Amino acid sequence: MVAIREVRAANASLKSSKQSLTAVFTGATSGIGKATVQSFAKHIPQPTAIIVGRSQKAFAPELENLRSINPDGTYVFLEEDISLIKNIDAVSQRIASTLQEKSLKIDLVFLSQGYISFNGRETNADGLDTSVSLRYYGRVRFAQNLLPYTAPEARIVSILAGGQEATIIEDDLALERNYSVGNAMGHPACMLTLSWDAFAAQNSDKAFLHVFPGLTSTGLLGRSATGVLGLVMRWVVEPILKLTASKPEDIGERMFYYATTEEFEKGSWSLDWDGTPKENAVLKGYRERGFKDVVVEHNERVFERAVSR
Ligand SMILES: NC(=O)c1ccc[n+]([C@@H]2O[C@H](COP(=O)([O-])OP(=O)(O)OC[C@H]3O[C@@H](n4cnc5c(N)ncnc54)[C@H](OP(=O)(O)O)[C@@H]3O)[C@@H](O)[C@H]2O)c1
Repeated sequence: MVAIREVRAANASLKSSKQSLTAVFTGATSGIGKATVQSFAKHIPQPTAIIVGRSQKAFAPELENLRSINPDGTYVFLEEDISLIKNIDAVSQRIASTLQEKSLKIDLVFLSQGYISFNGRETNADGLDTSVSLRYYGRVRFAQNLLPYTAPEARIVSILAGGQEATIIEDDLALERNYSVGNAMGHPACMLTLSWDAFAAQNSDKAFLHVFPGLTSTGLLGRSATGVLGLVMRWVVEPILKLTASKPEDIGERMFYYATTEEFEKGSWSLDWDGTPKENAVLKGYRERGFKDVVVEHNERVFERAVSR
């Protein structure tokens, strides 16, 4: 476990060692992602942040905030709804053009888009559940698309459920017949770590981190649920959880630390909220079986189908 005091001290010390870094953020318009981009702007003297989100207008005050945190930073907002694979491909091209214009390579990618669907499977135009696509397929697609534009020692950080990998429903990888709130959490979490393993095997100079942020008071549950359940989440559950939940600022500092500390320089890492590397028995079993190859093949089939629709 790394204490938050150590995390803050290490982040603050980066000012003297890393003058400029370029990072791409998806899901940074609120919550943990927003706190992570703030931490990045605060600790890197000349940061370049490319932020992908659904509404430029809604993010305008936060862009101003980032400029006030660090006026020497460059902050680019690209508007896109990243719940569909084709949209991810389009915005990845725009990210590539932005980098080429500025002669930059990506050092860090932070992926934190997502919500939890309490309304059953919400099938989108790709034939995928939207919430699972945001938390799993879209993140894999971003990693795949952006890897050619990364610096040699880049790190890709997915903020989701490292260490919480659960049994994969092997005959229904896209959860077409077995969708439930529980299945939509542990099953894609396990597939994500295995996808990261596959990327790490092909990119031995880079690091792929899958981090569980722990309970963090971002309002995620209240935003995810609708109707009466949404009211209960906002007015009853969240105020209770807030008593024990971490503050997004602390978790943002942690995410930035895991992306920059020497400890996680290369390979595939499944990390608990406090930075402890995890390999639970379920994940170990899939690793021993080489199940990542099945997952990669599935991802490819899903992406081919999505782009041909
Ligand atoms: N908070 C926790 O306690 C906790 C615990 C464990 C895991 N996690 C996971 O960590 C990640 C970040 O959580 P958070 O608490 O920071 O969440 P959050 O504050 O709700 O932020 C979620 C982000 O995802 C984007 N998003 C949501 N629905 C979208 C859609 N349909 N299309 C495109 N973008 C969409 C949001 O964009 P908009 O601003 O446009 O809505 C926002 O940028 C999530 O995947 C969550 O499941 C969180």
